[in-house]
Amino acid sequence: MLLPPIKLCASLACADPLHLAREIEAIEAAGIDMIHIDVMDGSFVPNLALSIDLVRAVRRITDLPMDAHLMMVDPARYIEPFAEAGADLIVVHQEACTHLQRTLAAIRALGVGAGVALNPATSLKMLEYVLDDIDLLLIMTVNPGFVGQKLVPATVGKIADARRMLAAHNRPIDIQVDGNVSLDNAHAMVAAGANWLVGGTSSIFRRDLTIAEGAAELRRVAERARMEAHGGVA
Ligand code: DX5
Ligand code: ZN
Repeated sequence: MLLPPIKLCASLACADPLHLAREIEAIEAAGIDMIHIDVMDGSFVPNLALSIDLVRAVRRITDLPMDAHLMMVDPARYIEPFAEAGADLIVVHQEACTHLQRTLAAIRALGVGAGVALNPATSLKMLEYVLDDIDLLLIMTVNPGFVGQKLVPATVGKIADARRMLAAHNRPIDIQVDGNVSLDNAHAMVAAGANWLVGGTSSIFRRDLTIAEGAAELRRVAERARMEAHGGVA
């Protein structure tokens, strides 16, 4: 199995909200590839978090790419302001879109990447007819809404199924995983075919490690799993 390059995405919802500028400097210094913005509307998920103004503010202080993970009902209403604020990639939930293909096309028309996220219970079959419309597949490895949750074990096999499905359609796009991407779980996730890892409280933002240490450990685990998946070749 050939995996696209590993990318680490720092989940900003897990950073210290009183020192965000300092946290972003540490994210950059740690060589993290991307900033992951969890947007929660209190309706699609039972929690509230982050929004457009934060994306705009973060864009002023960093050139790192930002992916906006919209955990909200009817996200099509907000894709334009998120793109204008500086998101490089907008990810919507399949479960939240009545007209998924239209929403994905509208995201691309704004000149940003389009991604689809699937909750743990949602079948990969829901993506069969939009594979050409997506730049990224986000497999939720917990039920979205809260940081610090435990992995839903069945999602690891789902990552492998997703990688096989993409290969069968000749679409070797990035697979992102989000939720309890811990230093323990990351190996199995990458071995199954994930290559973008959202690091939260269980890796990049651990209390017992600095951001640099957490990111270095996560990258080491992920790169080893990727090399093994390639049969020992980097
Ligand atoms: C789920 C959240 C978490 C977040 C935190 O909605 O988006 O997945 O990334 O990561 P962990 O699980 O490491 O605290
Ligand atoms: Zn997320």
